Amino acid sequence: MTISQTLRTLLSTVRSVCVLTGAGISAESGVATFRGDGGIWNKLRPEELANFDAFMRNPQLVWEWYSYRRTILQDVRPNPGHTAFVRMEQLIPDFTLVTQNVDNLHRRAGSSRVLELHGNIERSYCVSCGTFANDVHVSDEVQVPRCAACGGLIRPDVVWFGEMLPQDELDEAHEAAGRCELCLSVGTSGVVYPAAGIPIHARQAGAYLVEVNTEETDLSRHANELLRGASGTILPELVRIMEESRGMNA
Ligand code: OAD
Repeated sequence: MTISQTLRTLLSTVRSVCVLTGAGISAESGVATFRGDGGIWNKLRPEELANFDAFMRNPQLVWEWYSYRRTILQDVRPNPGHTAFVRMEQLIPDFTLVTQNVDNLHRRAGSSRVLELHGNIERSYCVSCGTFANDVHVSDEVQVPRCAACGGLIRPDVVWFGEMLPQDELDEAHEAAGRCELCLSVGTSGVVYPAAGIPIHARQAGAYLVEVNTEETDLSRHANELLRGASGTILPELVRIMEESRGMNA
């Protein structure tokens, strides 16, 4: 992986950065991606698990799936890719981290502001009255959690197929993309919209767009620069260049 002189110079001066992450950034933590080798959607059908009608038809099955994914996440840790963005947030005055991931690993790593476009698997809410529910767990006794306020069905706070993204987060992400000097598209196949439109918008608005990915994606042709490799290796290197040029390496 070679970092161009253009990018090195930009990293040393940039004051406004917008990042979009996808499942690939968590791959090195041991969380399966959705597409490609070992991808979740190769084995399971999204329409049976990640949509509202499926949930209303069989909430127990959908909860089993999300409960299983939560259990896996309890045993994994953020990796150096996540940690790099914690440091970037400290170094860059206007830094916006946008993620499609629901795994909460950016927050667990220590990022304080994360725009979660597809929700967060650790949160849940009632489909009837909208009340958020904390500490929702399924077990042999409670296979489908119910709302303490109204008795309605509790669902995971994730965006399912056919559902709208949270509008405030999406607006904020678009604004950040529109004003940033540097946009990083990290570990995403770039096939799910509107999220995939964010790096494209940044590029069209004049940002330098860098893709960090192990493979070519639908976004590659829009990028100014492609950094091929694992995000857990490349992102710490970008941070090192930022720190070095700002005289901040210990
Ligand atoms: P995908 O599974 O579609 O893509 C993961 C990307 O990560 C691929 O392009 C891989 O090449 C890349 N990748 C894998 N390991 C990597 C590594 N160590 N370093 C860098 N890149 C790596 O995941 P997303 O693009 O996040 O939506 O998928 C988008 C959405 O589709 C998800 O948010 C989810 C899914 O349906 C919802 O749940 C609404």
